[in-house]
Amino acid sequence: MSKSQKLFNDAKKVIPSGVNSPVRYFEPYPFFAKKSNGAYIWDEDNQRYIDFCNGYGALLLGHRRKEVLSAVSKQLTQGTMFCIPTKSEIELSKLIIGNFPSIQKVRLVNTGGEATMTAIRLARGFTKKKKIIKFEGCYHGAHDSVLVKAGSGSAHNGISVSDGGLDEVSKNTLVVQYNNSEELERIISKNKDIAGVIVEPILANMGLILPEKNFLSEIRKITKDNDVPLIFDEVVTGFRISPGGAQQHFGIKPDITTLAKALGSGFAVAAVGGKKEIMDLLSPGGKVYQASTYAGNPTSVSAAIASIKTINKIKNKLYSKLEKYNTMLTHVIDDMATDLKIPHQINFISSMFQIFFTDKPVVDYTSSMNADAKKFKKMFSVLLKKGIFIAPSQFEVVFLSDAHTKTDLENTLNAYDAALKSVKN
Ligand SMILES: Cc1ncc(COP(=O)(O)O)c(C=O)c1O
Repeated sequence: MSKSQKLFNDAKKVIPSGVNSPVRYFEPYPFFAKKSNGAYIWDEDNQRYIDFCNGYGALLLGHRRKEVLSAVSKQLTQGTMFCIPTKSEIELSKLIIGNFPSIQKVRLVNTGGEATMTAIRLARGFTKKKKIIKFEGCYHGAHDSVLVKAGSGSAHNGISVSDGGLDEVSKNTLVVQYNNSEELERIISKNKDIAGVIVEPILANMGLILPEKNFLSEIRKITKDNDVPLIFDEVVTGFRISPGGAQQHFGIKPDITTLAKALGSGFAVAAVGGKKEIMDLLSPGGKVYQASTYAGNPTSVSAAIASIKTINKIKNKLYSKLEKYNTMLTHVIDDMATDLKIPHQINFISSMFQIFFTDKPVVDYTSSMNADAKKFKKMFSVLLKKGIFIAPSQFEVVFLSDAHTKTDLENTLNAYDAALKSVKN
């Protein structure tokens, strides 16, 4: 029995399902991580994996990035928690605002879910309205207002509305098909109680689904025309698609933005920011309450400052390299699947991609759900055996990092070759 299997048996006795986040479980048992560096994770059995899960997108710069580790090590000698303001919070806020011109003021929180929860409360506080519109398959964290037709682990485990969530809350969340701005317009024009629209500008929680041409500019126009705040959930895309996220890439200015993942390069830090008149509603100056003991803690803040400074310093090389590597990977995988006559689609942008086993384009929740997830599962397990770790679900994304080398890509392609052949059989 492997050490990971033994540990999983032990974990199940004390941790529900043996994991601290549902997406980490896969059959027959997940490997247990021991250490990581750059592009690699080693498990307790000392098996090395090339990591393409990359902290579900957080590790844009790779594991244990030197600039981040040295900033955090320095901070550890000064203190890990003060619960009183620090100079570094101002520095981080200025860096975030510098990269995201739609953000005039920003509050730091700890997780993406906390950021979206605060964004929605702010939208409700600002408009004094109740209902939120989200898009089918978008995942915005594990809280009641957004756990409705959500992607990621919730789609993977067939949970459309979570048990224990209140109907009174979920009925105030209206769901619109992704890439369908006409449906959004229809619902907004019929309903005068819309507090906000929240969207992943690139849907990275149903596999990868790209916004169709004009989708984002149309939803910006519809929300503006109807005075409804537009929230871009850039928890995945922030810093990953460009230094200023998807909003910079597509040239759209939302009213509120949420950031997490790549902001902290492996440390728990997130942010919610936006227009001054909205952000100033936060307590104690305003009456929208949000608070957290660990918010803005100096350890995570030092990691975030180092991450943004590093990204800004290397941006000219970073994004073109990631795109080049991603284009190479996806084109070869596409050719392999075509040669094997496996019906498939590959969606990709910047440093993210996903393959779907279907002959129809994947443009929304339903088309992603209709892809053959059993084939995906088989592909995943062969990749893992060959030392390639991608997120264990069709409804997640393959993430590249700055640490991947050409040799890593060659090894990855050899593994995809074997994995696709196994899918064919
Ligand atoms: C787009 C998006 N928003 C919000 C979240 C929630 O972030 P967290 O898991 O840090 O709460 C996630 C998590 O994967 C996400 O992908």
